[in-house]
Amino acid sequence: MSQPLIDLQHISKRFDDTLVLDDLSLSVKENSFVTLLGPSGCGKTTTLRIIGGFESPNTGKVIFGGEDITKLPPNKRQLNTVFQKYALFPHMSIADNIAFGLKIKNKSKAYIDDKIKYALKLVNLNGFEHRSIDSLSGGQQQRIAIARAIVNEPKVLLLDEPLGALDLKLRQDMQYELIRLKNELGITFIYVTHDQEEALTMSDTIVVMNQGYIQQMGSPEQIYNEPENAFVADFIGESNIVDGLMIHDELVEIFGAKFACVDKGFGTNQPVDVVIRPEDIDLVKPEEGTLQGIVTHLIFKGVHYEMEVTTPDGYEWLVHSTDMFPVGEKVGIHVDPFDIQIMNKPASEDEEAVGVNE
Ligand SMILES: Nc1ncnc2c1ncn2[C@@H]1O[C@H](COP(=O)(O)OP(=O)(O)OP(=O)(O)O)[C@@H](O)[C@H]1O
Ligand SMILES: [Mg+2]
Repeated sequence: MSQPLIDLQHISKRFDDTLVLDDLSLSVKENSFVTLLGPSGCGKTTTLRIIGGFESPNTGKVIFGGEDITKLPPNKRQLNTVFQKYALFPHMSIADNIAFGLKIKNKSKAYIDDKIKYALKLVNLNGFEHRSIDSLSGGQQQRIAIARAIVNEPKVLLLDEPLGALDLKLRQDMQYELIRLKNELGITFIYVTHDQEEALTMSDTIVVMNQGYIQQMGSPEQIYNEPENAFVADFIGESNIVDGLMIHDELVEIFGAKFACVDKGFGTNQPVDVVIRPEDIDLVKPEEGTLQGIVTHLIFKGVHYEMEVTTPDGYEWLVHSTDMFPVGEKVGIHVDPFDIQIMNKPASEDEEAVGVNE
């Protein structure tokens, strides 16, 4: 195992009286794409700014390639940042915007011209050198901001919601371009977003944050399929999260009905949280279902139908299916055992925020 490229060790950050990051530790491997994901105000930008050196932590260390860089100013760090609100210089040409950092470093004109060409090619804006910033679309401006960061050859690129201002289609195109860039350049990306789909699409590792704490860290598949607590399950996608009773290993009771599952080690007759994804619910004939309900809502979503099925206890199950069941129809709910995810209930309110389940 190689040592991590970046290691945040027990970082805390306070603004006035508010603790914004609380004992946050995080390792980032070289050449990985790590995404910080969480709701507004959870501390993503603050974490990124601490890595970039724009903010210093109250406690804890920032280690880069084995060296303590906690007190190193931003321009001495081997990383570049693309900020949440991209700050291009509107009065300068595209070439001058991209060249800005290189000129500060006193690079030769030939070197700079070469780099500009190379960077524009990478972001698919060949020949745009002499256009003005005003003449570019939002997506093009964003790509210039990325080109400007890339020419400095950083080991790490910090990106703070770089696609937030773009419309859906453009955002998706840019997601693919960023993945391509990462693979071509072999640099490490630390990416901030509050969009869970974007995180799932792009990342090697997702760090789910809430209120200054890391809730869960893992691959997109792990985070999506095996959320460790209700916050992660809820945040990472639409979910049915219901109270359950773990009767014994591999059997859970939900609203009085017994569902086979694959989880073990939760004890006997223990209250648990149960997560079932909308796409994992099979609607069948009432007598074939484990639970019975009535379709109370139906929306066509393009790829699938979104339905709401209300069971006698009053819970409204969210169901995604390519089969359509009209409102008012009686249906059965069936879920395959491995599509049922069991989680410990948080022991206290406080733990719920922290997300410690061990
Ligand atoms: N310079 C500052 N002074 C005081 N409070 C700050 C400062 N910067 C951030 N905060 C507060 O710290 C908390 C975390 O902010 P941060 O910008 O890291 O959140 P975020 O996760 O990036 O949110 P968003 O998704 O909205 O960008 C917020 O409550 C914010 O108001
Ligand atoms: Mg932010």
